Amino acid sequence: VWARKVRPVPHLLRTSQRCLGSTFRASDLQVKLCQALQRKPDPKEPLTFGKQFTDHMLVVEWNHKDGWGAPCIQPFRHLVLHPACSGLHYGIQLFEGMKAFRGKDQRVRLFRPWLNMERMLRSALRICLPSFDKLELLECIRRLVEVDQDWVPSGEQKKNSLYIRPTFIGNEGCLGVHPSLQALLYVILCPVGSYFSGDSLEPVSLLADPRFIRAWPGGPGDCKLGGNYGPTVLVQGAAQREGCEQVLWLYGPDHLITEIGTMNIFIFWTHDDGVLELLTPPLNGIILPGVVRQSILDLARTWGEFRVTEREVSMKELMKALREGRVREIFGSGTACQVCPVNHILYQGEHVHIPTMENGPELILRLHHEFKNIQYAERPHEWMMPV
Ligand SMILES: Cc1ncc(COP(=O)(O)O)c(C=O)c1O
Repeated sequence: VWARKVRPVPHLLRTSQRCLGSTFRASDLQVKLCQALQRKPDPKEPLTFGKQFTDHMLVVEWNHKDGWGAPCIQPFRHLVLHPACSGLHYGIQLFEGMKAFRGKDQRVRLFRPWLNMERMLRSALRICLPSFDKLELLECIRRLVEVDQDWVPSGEQKKNSLYIRPTFIGNEGCLGVHPSLQALLYVILCPVGSYFSGDSLEPVSLLADPRFIRAWPGGPGDCKLGGNYGPTVLVQGAAQREGCEQVLWLYGPDHLITEIGTMNIFIFWTHDDGVLELLTPPLNGIILPGVVRQSILDLARTWGEFRVTEREVSMKELMKALREGRVREIFGSGTACQVCPVNHILYQGEHVHIPTMENGPELILRLHHEFKNIQYAERPHEWMMPV
């Protein structure tokens, strides 16, 4: 109930709107190309996530005196940071995760990048990094992907893509917890394979332990700040020691269901009023507004075949529905996997089977195919931005 009342704290955002109106411009973009290109991954070998990076990166610097510098596409290289910089000491840092796909017509397109830009700007304001124009950044990213487009893997098997990682850090060489007077925005790219090893969608098991909390009302859990992620590594380890693959994040005395690992959660069930429903927790300040989450809601609402609800849901409600055989599918959603089935939850010492796979999983497979068809351009779609 408490979480339901909580909304983002508006005065905080107002005071942090640094340099509103000030931005860098894509028209000032400088491009310095590599002399020697790296060898691209062997298309016969599976791609591992986040290990190999492309030849170039985008870099834009900001400082409080001169504002934004000119954006620059330059050879991929290590950063030079002041050892006192706030990005390292106080987590004045944020990141994004988005993907580009090579369509069946060989053209490269980004999936709903406007939503990532919006979330990135929100994260920047929350952590007191300077504002920028979302469309100017997006155009710079488009140019970066264009420069490195040969790195976008073949979309032939509708598996591989190019992962885009925008990052923004406080870079002032001065200790002390305060808004950074210097900042560095950069974007790196890596070719990635499918989250699932085979053709089938492999289900995951979850540890639901209310002693661990990912996000809380008034906190920054609805922003993509690095500080939200580091502390989850220990909990992920605890889940693995219990034989589970991921964490089901709960919140509050009612053990509200919030997210799975780094994914949003969906429950497809017959609600206790007898109506078939797709449910996900609402954006009440403790949920990351996922791009795939939004896309699933948009698709399901267009289909109009069942009720689509954004509402809080507790473990008690879920356990009751499981006992009554009303749950059809539970799944996570995120850029890495798109959709990921759940088949097991360990909650307060009880091992609970989730019948997702026994139910097809009909909805998950439908969403999975729908996303692939949109992303690999089986048909034109307004969600895709051509590079
Ligand atoms: C905590 C958390 N929830 C949900 C998501 C899913 O968001 P998206 O669909 O934008 O990848 C992510 C991944 O970015 C995440 O880190």
